[in-house]
Amino acid sequence: MSTRIVKPGAIGQPFSRVDGRMKVTGEATFAAEYKIENIAHGALVFSHIARGKIKNIDTRSAATAPGVIAVLTHENAPKMKKTAVFGTGSAEPGAASSSILYLNTDEVYFNGQPVAVVVAETLEQAEHAATLVLVDYEEKEAKLSLQAEKPNAILPENILGEPAELKQGDAEKALASARYKVDRIYTTPPFNHNAIELHATLAHWSEDEKSLIVYDATQYVIGVQEMLAKKFSLKKENVRVIGSFVGGGFGGKGNAWAHVSLAVAAAKVVKRPVKLALSRKGTHLSVGGRTPTDQRVALAANDEGDLTSLIHTGFTQTTEHNDFAEQFTFPARHLYKSENIWIRQEVVHLDIVPNTFMRAPGESVGTFALESAIDELAHEMGMDPIELRARNEPDKDPIKDLPFSMRNIKEAYRIGAEMFGWSKRNATPRATRHGQQLIGYGVATAFYPAYQFPAAAKVEIHADGTAIAQSAMHEMGMGSATAQAQNLADELGLPFNKVRFEYGDSIFPEAPVAGGSNSTISVGAAVKAACDKAKKKIHGLVGEDDASPLKGTRFDEVEFYDGGIYRKGDAAKGETYGAILRRFEMDKIEAEGKAGPDEDSQKYSMGSYGAQFCEVCVDDVTGEVRVTRFLGVFDCGRIINPKTASSQWRGGITMGLGMALTEEAMFDARKGRIVNPSLAEYHVPVNLDVPKIEIHFLDIPDPQTPMGAHGIGEIGITGTAAAVANAVFNATGRRIRDLPITLDKLL
Ligand code: MOS
Repeated sequence: MSTRIVKPGAIGQPFSRVDGRMKVTGEATFAAEYKIENIAHGALVFSHIARGKIKNIDTRSAATAPGVIAVLTHENAPKMKKTAVFGTGSAEPGAASSSILYLNTDEVYFNGQPVAVVVAETLEQAEHAATLVLVDYEEKEAKLSLQAEKPNAILPENILGEPAELKQGDAEKALASARYKVDRIYTTPPFNHNAIELHATLAHWSEDEKSLIVYDATQYVIGVQEMLAKKFSLKKENVRVIGSFVGGGFGGKGNAWAHVSLAVAAAKVVKRPVKLALSRKGTHLSVGGRTPTDQRVALAANDEGDLTSLIHTGFTQTTEHNDFAEQFTFPARHLYKSENIWIRQEVVHLDIVPNTFMRAPGESVGTFALESAIDELAHEMGMDPIELRARNEPDKDPIKDLPFSMRNIKEAYRIGAEMFGWSKRNATPRATRHGQQLIGYGVATAFYPAYQFPAAAKVEIHADGTAIAQSAMHEMGMGSATAQAQNLADELGLPFNKVRFEYGDSIFPEAPVAGGSNSTISVGAAVKAACDKAKKKIHGLVGEDDASPLKGTRFDEVEFYDGGIYRKGDAAKGETYGAILRRFEMDKIEAEGKAGPDEDSQKYSMGSYGAQFCEVCVDDVTGEVRVTRFLGVFDCGRIINPKTASSQWRGGITMGLGMALTEEAMFDARKGRIVNPSLAEYHVPVNLDVPKIEIHFLDIPDPQTPMGAHGIGEIGITGTAAAVANAVFNATGRRIRDLPITLDKLL
C-alpha cells in the first residue's frame, strides 16, 4: 500500500493571470475589435436639452451625406419592447439601464439622451452626418439639482431589498443628551466609471432575422441576452451575446445603455452588421455614473466611548425611469453597535442621465461619511480612532441580529497598526511637519457585503488529461478566469496548467452579472457542483469495471488527485482520468452543475472587512495633498490567488484615492449636461498620484462560503476616501466633508 503525498493545491498560489499574455500582446479581442465582413458604423445623436419633446427632426442633410446608409429616429426606428430595468429589485432578469424606449419615443428625459442613429460606411462618415441631424425641441422645465429637489424627496420602498428606514431606540434623543457628539453633513459629487475600454456593441443578425449575435462590452452577457430577446421578440436561445474580454467595467457595463439596443435596431434596418462604438464623450453623455450623495452622520458616545447614538441618513438622486437608490447606509447597518440607531435613505428624482452601480456602490461613499464621523468623534473625545472602533465592535449584526459568519476586523487593525507604525502618529493636528509639508496619518474601516448569486457551469474532462470549464461569467480585469482555473484544478485534482476556463459568452451555462463582487464564489460553487457530478460519473464507470482497481468501491471510499481517482489512503489503487477514458473509448466526460446561496447563508451576516491606513503630505502653502503611503489590511476569507487579489485591492484603493482627491463629474446646473466628458478634465489618478500601496490579508476562511472565499473586487475602494480625509485632518486640522479634497478647500 502506498500513501499519497499531499501536494499543495492551486488555490492559494500566486499564479500570474491566464489572460495576461493575450492582453499585453494584443491577442485578446475586445468587443469593438471583432472583424465582421461588411460591417457598417453607427454614430449617435445626443439630445441637447434635459427635458422636453422632439417637435421636429430633420434628417435630410444627414441622409444625403457621403457614405450614409440610414438615419434612424423615433419616426422610423423598429419598435422595441419595454424590458425589466436592472438593479431595481425586479425579479425579472435583464440588463436595461432605464425604461426609456430610446428612438421609440419623442420624449426627452435627459441631456445626452440618444435621439437618432446615423449608419454609414465608415465611422468618420457616420460621425460627420450625425452633426447634420437637426432637432427642434419643445423644452420643458427640468429638475437638475439634488439640493434643490430635497424638499420633494421620497422614501423608496426598499434599498436593494433592504428597508429604506430603520429605527432602534430613539437616536435623536440620545444624541441630544450625550456628552460627546458629532453631527455632520458629508457630500460626494457625481462620479463616472471611466473604464479604459469604451462601450461598444456589434450587432449581427442572421439573414432570416430570427437570430442575432452581439459582441458587447458588458459585465452581464446573460442580462443583455435576456433584454435583447425581449426587446426584439426573439427566442432567448437565438440571441448570443459575446463579451470575451472587457477592459474594465466598474459597474458601468453592468447594465445595457441605449447604444446596445440601438446597434441591434440599426443592424435590422440596414440589413448589415452594425458597430456602435461610443467615444469617451459619448460614454459620458449616455452612460450614467454614480449619484452624488448628501449624507448626515451623527454619533454620540458616553465617557467610555460606547456609542449611544448612530444616525446615518441622507439623499441620493435617481430618475423615474431607472429608480436606483444607491445604498450608502449599508456600512452603518453592520459596522458598529449602538444603543440607538436611525438609518434613512431618501431619493430625489431628476431629469438627468440615469445613475447606476459604480465601484462599490453605496459602501464607497457611505464609508466616507461614516468613517470620517468616527474619526471626528474620536478627536472630540481625545480617543484613538482605532480604539474607538474596537470598543464599538458588535458581537453580532446590529440590525439583522444574526451572528457574523466571519469577522476579524480587530485583528486587521492590530496588524495594520503594527505594519504602518500607527503608534508614531501624533494625534494633534498640524503637529508633524517636514519643512513646508504637513504630515498626517488616517485610518478607516473598509466594508463590503459577501454576495453569492445563482450560477451554473459545465466541466469537461478530456482523455488527454486536461479539463475545461465553461460559464457565462466575465473577465474584465479582475483575474476571475485565473481564480476559477485554480478552483477547477483543485476540484479535479489536476495541475493548474492542465485546465482552462472559458467565459464571456451567453452560450455557456448562465452566470450572474459581474457585479457586487460575487463572481468568485458564485461561479466557484457552480464549478464545484459540475466537478462533483463529473467525479460521480467517473466513479460510476470504474466502480463496476472488472479492469479497474477501484471495482467495488463506494463513492465515499475514493478521492481525486494527481489527475485521477484513487482508493482513499492507497495511492497504488487508482487510475488516471486519461487511462479510464481511453479504456472506455470516450473522448471526454462532461457534467453541468448549478449552485446558489444555501439556506444556511440566511442565518449569518456575511461581509468582508478591512483596515485602511493612509499617510499624506499636505503643502502648507499651496494646499496640495499627496498620499505618500497607503496600507490596506483585508479580512476577506480565504484568498484564492494572493497575486491577483492584491492587484484587485490595489486597484480599489487607487479608485478610492481618485474619489478622495481628484474625481468629479460636473454637470451644468442650467442644462444638466456633463461639462467634463474627457480624461483630460475628469481626473482619474495617474501613476504619480499613487504611492506604493502595501497590502496584507488575513486569509482566514469563512466557514459559510464556497471555498471559504469572499469577493474582493470592490472592498478596496471602501474606507479609502475616509482614510485620506482623516489623514488630511491630522496633517492640517482641516476637516473636509465635501469630496473631492481639492486644494482650494484647504486654503
Ligand atoms: Mo460593481 S459597481 O457591482 O460592477
